[in-house]
Amino acid sequence: MVRPLLIFSCSSPRLTSNFCIQNMAGFLDNIEPLKQTALAEFNVAADLAALEQTKGAWIGPNGRFTALMKQLGTLSKEEKPAAGKLINAAKTELEAALLARREELELKAALPKEPTDFTLPGRRRALGKLHPLTQVADDIVRAFRKIGFAVADGPEIEDEYHCFDALNTPADHPARDSQDTFYLHTTDKRLLRTHTSSVQIRVMAKQPPPVRIIVPGRVYRRDNADATHNPTFHQIEGLYVDKNVTVGDLKGTVEFVFRELMGSDVKIRFRPHYFSYTEPSYEIDFTNALVKKMGKDWLEIAGCGMVHPQVFETVGYDAEVWTGWAFGFGIERIAMLRYGINDIRLFYENDMRFLKQF
Ligand code: DAH
Repeated sequence: MVRPLLIFSCSSPRLTSNFCIQNMAGFLDNIEPLKQTALAEFNVAADLAALEQTKGAWIGPNGRFTALMKQLGTLSKEEKPAAGKLINAAKTELEAALLARREELELKAALPKEPTDFTLPGRRRALGKLHPLTQVADDIVRAFRKIGFAVADGPEIEDEYHCFDALNTPADHPARDSQDTFYLHTTDKRLLRTHTSSVQIRVMAKQPPPVRIIVPGRVYRRDNADATHNPTFHQIEGLYVDKNVTVGDLKGTVEFVFRELMGSDVKIRFRPHYFSYTEPSYEIDFTNALVKKMGKDWLEIAGCGMVHPQVFETVGYDAEVWTGWAFGFGIERIAMLRYGINDIRLFYENDMRFLKQF
């Protein structure tokens, strides 16, 4: 490689200024050819390592171009500005060229080393799936939509009024107890809703009858987790208010939905029960081949009843004109039955081996 030029006559910073001043013309003449040589070397660097080496050889602390720059200090005061301007411009050019070459080489390094074989099978990305609880909730919603119900929702952080008072729950009812309910604070009476029934109140307070809604949502209770309990779980609430609504409508609707969900062999029965917000109230028992296979005759699946006149009065509906029914059931319960799952905690562990099966 040809290494040109006078530069070596003046390359050491220790040389006296006198010597270099005499070489001012030489100094200027050297810039361009040196720069050209450096540019050429940057461009032939075959990879990033070679480029780094070349960079060091030119503009590193001991580089040839750096040496030239150091000579600037040996020039006289009058000569410095013009010479400085030239050499700085050259340096900027070198740095830009270095950057451009580095990008080129980086791109080259990132390219596959071997030719692509387009006949190989592609790599598939695993598709995500809906959580089984979401699938069941969606199916329930779909069944109710067919018969004209709309989805409503409400806050998970509730107050005592919507969760209990307006639902006609007596002040001393054990459900209010901190044993069962998560209160946010000892004095602040806000709480995590214990059931989706609170949304009945919110909807009725906001709109005049008729009402035909379902409310899927998360609820909270101070239960210890075991195979059949979890401190958070999911419910679906239903509310139907119109003129001349009967228990027969309730039974027909529940039967229709459970058959949609679990097959045509489903049978349901109503057992008298007590809820403060319905009168009369019932528990719904359910059976089909799956239940029989579990060795049981009936499985308790939901609570329901005819909306209590006191509830209507609280939300400002005329109980002499309007009648209605409501129900609520647990989504986990249905999902466990449907898929033969024996431990509710599996739904919340997010173990992919479990989730992938749905
Ligand atoms: N809220 C009740 C529960 O969490 C379920 C329920 C019962 C809802 C009767 C209703 C109803 O709307 O009418 O156990």
